Amino acid sequence: SRTAAVIPAAGRGVRLGPGAPKALRALSGTPMLVHAVRAMAASRAVRLVVVVAPPDGAEEVRTLLDAYPLTGHDRAELLVVPGGETRQESVRLGLAALPGDITTVLVHDAARPLVPVDTVDAVIAAVHDGAPAVVPALPLTDTVKQVAPRTGAAAGEPEPVVGTPERALLRAVQTPQGFDRRTLDAAHAKFAAAEGEGATDDAGLVERLGSPVVLVPGHEEAFKVTRPLDLVLAEAVLARRRA
Ligand code: C5P
Repeated sequence: SRTAAVIPAAGRGVRLGPGAPKALRALSGTPMLVHAVRAMAASRAVRLVVVVAPPDGAEEVRTLLDAYPLTGHDRAELLVVPGGETRQESVRLGLAALPGDITTVLVHDAARPLVPVDTVDAVIAAVHDGAPAVVPALPLTDTVKQVAPRTGAAAGEPEPVVGTPERALLRAVQTPQGFDRRTLDAAHAKFAAAEGEGATDDAGLVERLGSPVVLVPGHEEAFKVTRPLDLVLAEAVLARRRA
């Protein structure tokens, strides 16, 4: 079997504040996307990494990645393709670029640059053991409230609470999510053309297909770099690794 990783990196990163697309911003001097590519290539099973660039940015991303060649045990083939308007569309375009002999696919957010290789390998191992969809996940620390869909209320207005799901039964999911390639292709083909934001989670599409999805332990260092404080945390993690 051959394993590839698709890295959607076409997001603008609005919540991180003004600046370059999120994946191209530096973490301790190296673009976040480079950290994410290395995190996938660090797994010996991953032979190919497909980076999904902003729709008009494939050339810029290719040039950037060429400045950080993969070496040693991180060696993997690298493809860069243009992405789409939503994460779901970007992943679909990345899957479309995979060669026919790929049987296992990881989908990994560029925004999770620090996922440890042991987590990547655990996801791949669970797919190889027969699970069509595998998701790294952690228990929640915060209690979660459900609210009604917003209907014109101004941001900052107090919101009515609709319910409180039992925290012990919730999990926060991370990436890389691992899939039997045919299952993920089928899910993206069946649920293409979603309106609005589209799916924020590939395993969710597989669930809608009716195929089983299982969780394996995630890792706190696989957190998503979304807001400015996350950059501070990511650089602290890198500093600790280098110490
Ligand atoms: O916005 P969010 O943090 O959920 O994005 C998760 C991942 O999806 C990021 O790596 C981002 O670059 C990617 N993405 C994408 N294409 C989009 C939107 C987001 O590849 N149109």
